[in-house]
Amino acid sequence: MDLELLLKPMKLLVTGAQGQVGTALTRLAETEPFFEICALDKSQLDITDEQQIKEQLALHLPDYVVNCAAFDHIDEAEHKAELCYDVNALGVEKLALACGDLSIPMFHLSTDYVFDGHYASGYTEDDDVAPLGIYGDSKWQGEEVLRRVLPKHLILRVSWLFSEQGNNFVLRTLESARHKNALEAVSDRRGCPTSASDVARVVLAMLKQVHNGAEVWGTYHYCGAEITNRYDFCKEILIAAGSYESFKVEKLVPISSKDYVTEAQRPNTSILTCKKLLSVFGIRQRPWRQELQWLMRVIYDSPR
Ligand SMILES: NC(=O)c1ccc[n+]([C@@H]2O[C@H](COP(=O)([O-])OP(=O)(O)OC[C@H]3O[C@@H](n4cnc5c(N)ncnc54)[C@H](OP(=O)(O)O)[C@@H]3O)[C@@H](O)[C@H]2O)c1
Repeated sequence: MDLELLLKPMKLLVTGAQGQVGTALTRLAETEPFFEICALDKSQLDITDEQQIKEQLALHLPDYVVNCAAFDHIDEAEHKAELCYDVNALGVEKLALACGDLSIPMFHLSTDYVFDGHYASGYTEDDDVAPLGIYGDSKWQGEEVLRRVLPKHLILRVSWLFSEQGNNFVLRTLESARHKNALEAVSDRRGCPTSASDVARVVLAMLKQVHNGAEVWGTYHYCGAEITNRYDFCKEILIAAGSYESFKVEKLVPISSKDYVTEAQRPNTSILTCKKLLSVFGIRQRPWRQELQWLMRVIYDSPR
């Protein structure tokens, strides 16, 4: 690769730029002169709209497309299956075909929900998938179509995302703790919380390596370090936030996943093994506890 190319900023077109990961990615990339970011929200680029995709790609001609757009309302997906597949499978296909036409590699985010959660020790990238619901299945189909259509792709499966925005477990817990005397949390559902800003760090680090010529296309896993369960995570959230705010909640009650009925079935063990990411890219997992502390500073120290 010649020097001029190396000195030129890497141009990323980010879809779903107002979501948790889209926002974190845009924010982080903007701090580095190495990246030029074109962040498009749903109103600017709807990934189900083939014509809009073609126009936006032709207009911006990015080096990479990073697809952060998704329909990820897990329970709603059970009765809005068509919309869910439209975005998570067909939308990905449209994006991948348009990228292919212009030889633009694509970075795509996926989920631990492609697995059924029966492996207590966690899942590698080679393990068989068995989604339990519409959302997981639509994400799996999105992965498959990308593999088929565009060889130059990176798929990063992540789990239990949290950030200062959106409908995530941390914000839901804080909101419930403000209004309820007692909270219930599932104690037999295990996983690894992952901050959206940590995912952003990983995405950019991976892209830098492929941009420098590493031929490491394929599927990878990433999640925050240390396995926990929803009940313990809830406890940690309340302890971390407790130094900033007094809550109404007085009791946290562990319950079984059998007693927590939701429209969509959820995997009981959502542990993603991240060894491949470490051995291929040298990227290590960061502890989610540290990320949670950082998030509390963002939530409470920034003006509301
Ligand atoms: N959240 C989690 O815990 C979790 C866990 C594992 C994996 N993931 C995966 O990680 C990725 C990022 O998740 P996230 O939490 O950042 O999601 P998010 O906050 O829900 O963001 C997704 C964004 O995509 C937008 N969007 C929806 N339909 C679209 C369309 N047709 N065209 C363009 N944009 C569209 C949404 O806009 P609206 O909100 O206006 O619809 C939203 O801004 C997704 O692929 C998700 O499946 C998430």
